[in-house]
Amino acid sequence: MSTYTVTDPRKVTTKRIADMRQSGEKIAMITAYDFTMATLVDQAGIDIILVGDSASNVMQGNATTIPITIDDMIVYGRTVVRAVKRAMVIVDMPFGTYQGDPIEAQRNAVRIMQETGADGVKLEGGREVRTATEMILRAGIPVMGHLGLTPQSINKFGTYSTRAQDESEATRLLADAKVLAEIGCFGIVLEKIPAMLAAKVTQSISVPTIGIGGGGACSGQVLVLHDMLGLNREFKPKFLRVYNNLGEQIIDSVGNYISDVKSGDFPNADEQY
Ligand code: KIV
Repeated sequence: MSTYTVTDPRKVTTKRIADMRQSGEKIAMITAYDFTMATLVDQAGIDIILVGDSASNVMQGNATTIPITIDDMIVYGRTVVRAVKRAMVIVDMPFGTYQGDPIEAQRNAVRIMQETGADGVKLEGGREVRTATEMILRAGIPVMGHLGLTPQSINKFGTYSTRAQDESEATRLLADAKVLAEIGCFGIVLEKIPAMLAAKVTQSISVPTIGIGGGGACSGQVLVLHDMLGLNREFKPKFLRVYNNLGEQIIDSVGNYISDVKSGDFPNADEQY
């Protein structure tokens, strides 16, 4: 039984997200990539659904987010949008679609918006993607930033360990957050950075921060659905709270079904015509 009740059934917009930050209401965001899951998390009352490029890992079985393509993201995005009535839907721009020519970045973001029906896009990075971000914003597309551990740069980092632990990286991250907020991003994901730094960023900018391993002072939180449901049983970072053991439940259920088929117990007299 859920402990949460939706009080406002209207569609969540960038204005609502800004109002939530203003009023101190925490923003709940989660990933989804398919129709069934998106329907359920929307019914649960989630504020933002992120069609994350983590689909590369949890849907496609890749080791990183590098291989997923814009065509893949459009299929996942369109499928989620079809399911959702209330939540805001944000689609990740995948690796290689915005780091180069800003005009191409704008074209790719327009394509994602037109072909999925999403409410905005998310992209990783700070000042190095400033011009691309500005071009996308200029097209009237809401942009969510993403700083700290940015998985599309994993080959540059060489590790998934906590970012911005030293002063120079922390200073750079804070400056990047200020730039993203000033140019018009409606929110910024802060992934795997010290909680004190995330708190400082949250106090220093006028748009909401959404933490994933960013601590409790962020304006909201995001988790990958498969991780928090216990479907992805190998992934256990400190920041993850696991709310269910669906992985075990699926294995048990399918195992029981196999036993019933093999023993002839299924179907019984009531389960046939
Ligand atoms: O792709 C994703 O799921 C993300 C979240 C981890 C924020 O970017």
